[in-house]
Amino acid sequence: MLCKARERSPRFLSGGVREKSLLGAVCDSGRMKAHAVAVKLRRGEEARRKLKEAGLLSEELLLKNDGTELLLPLTAEPEEERLKEILRGIRYRLLVADFQQRPKRPKSYRDLLHLPDDLMELLPTSYDIVGEIIILKLPEELYPHRQEIGEALLKIHKGVRTVALDRGVKGEYRVRDLEVIAGNENLETTHVENQIKIMVDVSKVYFSPRLSAERARVSSQVREGEVVLDMFSGAGPFAITIARNSPARKVYAVDVNPAAYEYLERNIHINHVEDRVEAFLGDALDIVPTIDDKIDRIVMNHPTSAMDFLPLSFEKVFPGGVIHLYLLLESSEVPKMAREIGEKAKEIGRRIKIISLREVKGYSPTSSIFCFDLEVD
Ligand SMILES: C[S@@+](CC[C@H](N)C(=O)[O-])C[C@H]1O[C@@H](n2cnc3c(N)ncnc32)[C@H](O)[C@@H]1O
Repeated sequence: MLCKARERSPRFLSGGVREKSLLGAVCDSGRMKAHAVAVKLRRGEEARRKLKEAGLLSEELLLKNDGTELLLPLTAEPEEERLKEILRGIRYRLLVADFQQRPKRPKSYRDLLHLPDDLMELLPTSYDIVGEIIILKLPEELYPHRQEIGEALLKIHKGVRTVALDRGVKGEYRVRDLEVIAGNENLETTHVENQIKIMVDVSKVYFSPRLSAERARVSSQVREGEVVLDMFSGAGPFAITIARNSPARKVYAVDVNPAAYEYLERNIHINHVEDRVEAFLGDALDIVPTIDDKIDRIVMNHPTSAMDFLPLSFEKVFPGGVIHLYLLLESSEVPKMAREIGEKAKEIGRRIKIISLREVKGYSPTSSIFCFDLEVD
């Protein structure tokens, strides 16, 4: 067996044996020679604690118990006087011994994978965790390795039981096309954010944990007694965050996807906001005109189609009210879109002020989801 030694000069060690130093050398088997203290087993725990407190105990090597003594590996050759002081009252021997390295905990799922270098470079550095489920996108070159990748993620994330490959958000309901690549096939989970719980089947209802900060931001703007409309509520993360964390009087939540409506109802119940959130199943174009209340704030989180519903919001929102309009755009399209929003308002006799414009999350290399906060006169 070959050991690669860190350079040290030969020296006398306790016990008087002159040996060519291989201290710090790691062998193929993960063993290493180190200075150590041997103490009787009954004083072992006390000595271990004292050496640890003094910063002398090696964290990289495993302790050894030979039946009568405990061998405690040290970070370096200790100064005898200092060691005596640290272990005062405990009999000990100083020696050099072979220790097994502590198995290193991998830091990232990448550390568990052995793919060719060009594929390793393509591994994603980020992914979403929704409750107990990881949702990740992979470039096609990595598809043949998706199961290994999924298993590696499961090993790293102890609270996760399922890893699903995201092949894009599709259709009117904006639902993800998912393939389970590791773990359990159940895609229903409960996600906790902003002190609320959202139960959702991620294959049946749109949900993105990346909007958590955005939901907190919108909720923090809601003033005492406001009436809020969440026009595309999904399972209710905006509506319920607002109902639980703001002084809103009422939140109306609408979605056309029956599965979204079912989870919305459950989430209203789970979060105990039955008195403040009213859920509707149907097309916003049909439902919103029937809501007989003064609406102070409208959340329009349907970034691919929200512009089609903007005239409806302009008609519904009370003077001085606010609309949070989410749109999927190329950065270059933003100024043109700002003008278009103003023109749409004018067409139905309203005036708007863009009080904030923010890039909320990246979508593709060239496009992002932007939020326009509009104050409507
Ligand atoms: C991007 S998702 C947003 C869901 C939710 N706001 C969230 O943050 O998780 C858009 C939602 O709009 C719903 N939707 C699409 N067309 C609709 C319509 N005409 N009326 C009401 N909801 C609609 C979809 O079913 C989907 O749940």
